[in-house]
Amino acid sequence: MRLSVIGCGYLGAVHAAAMASIGHEVVGIDVDERKIASLSKGDAPFFEPGLQEILSEGLASGRLRFSTDMADAAGAAVHFVGVGTPQQKDGYAADMTYVNAAVDALIPHLAAGDIVAGKSTVPVGTAATLAERVTPTGATLVWNPEFLREGWAVQDTVDPDRLVAGVPAGADGERAADILREVYHPSVAKGTPFIVTDLATAELVKVAANAFLATKISFINAMAEIAEVTGADVTTLADAIGHDARIGRRFLGAGIGFGGGCLPKDIRAFSARAEELGRGESVAFLREIDAINMRRRDRAVDLVVDAFGGSVYKKNITVLGAAFKPHSDDIRDSPALDVAVRLHGLGAWVTVTDPEAIENARRVHPQLNYVEDRDEALRAADAVIVVTEWDEYRRQLDPAHAATLATGRVVVDGRNCLDADAWRAAGWDYRGMGRP
Ligand code: UGA
Repeated sequence: MRLSVIGCGYLGAVHAAAMASIGHEVVGIDVDERKIASLSKGDAPFFEPGLQEILSEGLASGRLRFSTDMADAAGAAVHFVGVGTPQQKDGYAADMTYVNAAVDALIPHLAAGDIVAGKSTVPVGTAATLAERVTPTGATLVWNPEFLREGWAVQDTVDPDRLVAGVPAGADGERAADILREVYHPSVAKGTPFIVTDLATAELVKVAANAFLATKISFINAMAEIAEVTGADVTTLADAIGHDARIGRRFLGAGIGFGGGCLPKDIRAFSARAEELGRGESVAFLREIDAINMRRRDRAVDLVVDAFGGSVYKKNITVLGAAFKPHSDDIRDSPALDVAVRLHGLGAWVTVTDPEAIENARRVHPQLNYVEDRDEALRAADAVIVVTEWDEYRRQLDPAHAATLATGRVVVDGRNCLDADAWRAAGWDYRGMGRP
């Protein structure tokens, strides 16, 4: 099928390349000329395992191309809209400027029978409003939320765990759902759940999923806070409750909390939208989820400061990690980098290392010292703090080896990802999050 993908950021670039990889003819469109130039050359603009390969293959096959000209979308059967919906600068609501601009620019190029499939995470009710603008062209607007995780984006797009299609009632909606089934043919053929619903439900599925994930993380971090005043161990607690299949162990990793370009802004936008709808109280708990999450960053900083009796002034602190999570170079709302910046603000000499995110981090926080080589970064450290659980730190860093590099013996495990016994046995003063 011929497809267009409007917006070539994280979601759009991966979606375009993934759709080409399953046999579609795809044009990716973005207003950012540099991004399009880089994608057209086959250079993935961000680190995402597997993206480089499908990008090169798609371009070489001739099925994938990129353009800054919206007119190139004309002729596609389905137009995916995957532009960003960041947090507004002066509030918690989502900034809809890019979605509105993308749809307005697309409308003159639509033909009767086209499908416009929204993928961006939007406040519930957006699709109904956009449909009023799209329907007069004879095209059908549907909502097809995206659930990809950074670091697994290619796999999640090619082989998702579910597909959701919000369509209007009636024959147009049924036809649109059939077309989406054709787009996602390989997944549909293997029996991946394909849920057809109305527009509002599809929009809500996305924000509800992210709200639930954020709640799970903050729940376990709340337990970590209780563990901290009782001497209990939150990781054992998570293992124990996680054995209950109704609870499950995944996303019960206590530590410095969630960040990234999705969960933080999505729960805030959800509260803002609920308030607009007169139902603020229904998701008032999300404010608490956010507050718990932010407190964990303070806690990590306090653990380091306490290790030096109340001041990190002129201490060499090595921060292992900058990305908001492993397998990503994304530093948007990264708790890891936030902790590093706060320690720097307290007068510490902060050295940051990360396998992928240094370049992005340096651009935003040039005041920190960045060192590519992990061992080099550890040299002469008075304290070490792990804030992104890359394998390079979690599995591949031998505590005895680290002890030969660092000057001090304090290690703060901001992700509860280190083997506490092994680090203690190697002479380290190990301090975890919600662990004795
Ligand atoms: C999240 C969702 O997981 C995706 O399903 C969704 O499609 C995506 O947002 C989106 O809306 O686009 P992502 O932001 O890539 O995906 O990252 P997650 O894997 O959800 O991790 C988010 C944050 O939570 C990270 O900072 C991670 O370190 C933290 N986290 C995760 C924890 O602190 N503890 C855990 O147990 C798990």
